[in-house]
Amino acid sequence: MGQALTIPRAALTAAEEHRRLRSLLAQVEGAFGRSTARAATGLDVVAAGLDTLRGPLGAHFEEEERAHLYEEIEERAPEQAPVCARLRSEHDGLIRRLDSLRTASPEARRGPTWAREVRSLLADLAGHEERETDLLTRTLDGSIGAQD
Ligand SMILES: [Fe+2]
Repeated sequence: MGQALTIPRAALTAAEEHRRLRSLLAQVEGAFGRSTARAATGLDVVAAGLDTLRGPLGAHFEEEERAHLYEEIEERAPEQAPVCARLRSEHDGLIRRLDSLRTASPEARRGPTWAREVRSLLADLAGHEERETDLLTRTLDGSIGAQD
């Protein structure tokens, strides 16, 4: 029980942020279906959504690393080290893809690949956070790493 009560500040913060990030991802996803008669087309709204996502996502990844979230999980559940290593290693690539897509020119946004790459990034981000949420949930409820 003691272990279950100590993990947690970093894990709870991360879990809370995952909820907020999911809602931002849903907003970007939802923007694909939107079009207006005026200047802001669906794709421009998607691009604005990516800009909105950048700050919270970058801060979230940095906070997980700064707060040693993965190290805490690994301490309690050493067998999860490969999962933690993979999640941690995905951060840079996800941010790089986001930056590349959100800084694409308006012409590039209307090209053949931009929207597909955005959807692929959104799916990968959702998958990343889902795997992490799953790991956190299992760590928090003691179903893994209950070594005491
Ligand atoms: Fe996360």
